[in-house]
Amino acid sequence: MFSEDARILSNVEIAPDIWKMEIETRLAKEARPGQFIEIQVPPFFLRRPISINEIKENSLVIIYKVLGEGTLKMTTMKDTLNVFGPCGNGFPIENQDVYLVGGGVGVPPLYETAKRYLKKGQKVQVVLGFNSKDQIFFEQEFKDLGCPVSIATMDGSAGIKGTVVDAIHEQGIQDPFILACGPYPMLKALQREYTKGYLSLEARMACGIGACMGCVVKDKEGHSLRVCKDGPVFPIQEVAL
Ligand SMILES: Cc1cc2nc3c(=O)[nH]c(=O)nc-3n(C[C@H](O)[C@H](O)[C@H](O)COP(=O)(O)OP(=O)(O)OC[C@H]3O[C@@H](n4cnc5c(N)ncnc54)[C@H](O)[C@@H]3O)c2cc1C
Ligand code: FES
Repeated sequence: MFSEDARILSNVEIAPDIWKMEIETRLAKEARPGQFIEIQVPPFFLRRPISINEIKENSLVIIYKVLGEGTLKMTTMKDTLNVFGPCGNGFPIENQDVYLVGGGVGVPPLYETAKRYLKKGQKVQVVLGFNSKDQIFFEQEFKDLGCPVSIATMDGSAGIKGTVVDAIHEQGIQDPFILACGPYPMLKALQREYTKGYLSLEARMACGIGACMGCVVKDKEGHSLRVCKDGPVFPIQEVAL
């Protein structure tokens, strides 16, 4: 892990309030799918954790949603940004067909993960959940990789009406091997239903390197786990959600 001033190659809005940024950085040589980087957004002291969406030879792509002041400031950045990482453990790449399940801004880290599983010759199915049709992003990118993609929207404006769990049910799959990233209620619902795979968690972070205990969750025996260092990816059923 190290920090550097990365050159911003592009920074564009791809859906309402969803931005895609590509940065030239040596971190690309070390990064694995499911890891994240910590982004310095002056004048704020705390870095913003953002997942790695795609790993190229000399650059990384991130997808971020404008939520508060930090991510809003990121939309104005053009030249360089200071990044630290790669942080966390990432998704394991196993000899296993997978169901990738993403909700909202949990979708981005699944893209590089899909590429790695496909490269291994595994079958990759994708289920994406959003609130409404206008918020959908990255559906075509997964299709372009050759993955079957199911969409669930809460208001029924596209795909199945309901959650990602409803979309998986509709396919009649009993207990798929899932790799999931998304909001807490989505992960909780998946953990209630399924027993195989991994969940990527989000938590408010300070240090991002396992030192401050600011991002702790508990496992089912009550032991503390740091989302930034022990995760963000945990075996499904390990964390008490
Ligand atoms: C491991 C990890 C990966 C993430 N990957 C992505 C991603 O790929 N794309 C994306 O859009 N978002 C992602 N997030 C969420 C992202 O970090 C927050 O949306 C962002 O930090 C908000 O910053 P802000 O200044 O705009 O919001 P503010 O609310 O102004 O932020 C205030 C403080 O709270 C922190 N904070 C606010 N919301 C979150 C949150 N949901 N998670 C963690 N810290 C938060 C900020 O970092 C900042 O320190 C990820 C979070 C984590 C923990
Ligand atoms: S953010 Fe400091 S230990 Fe995780």
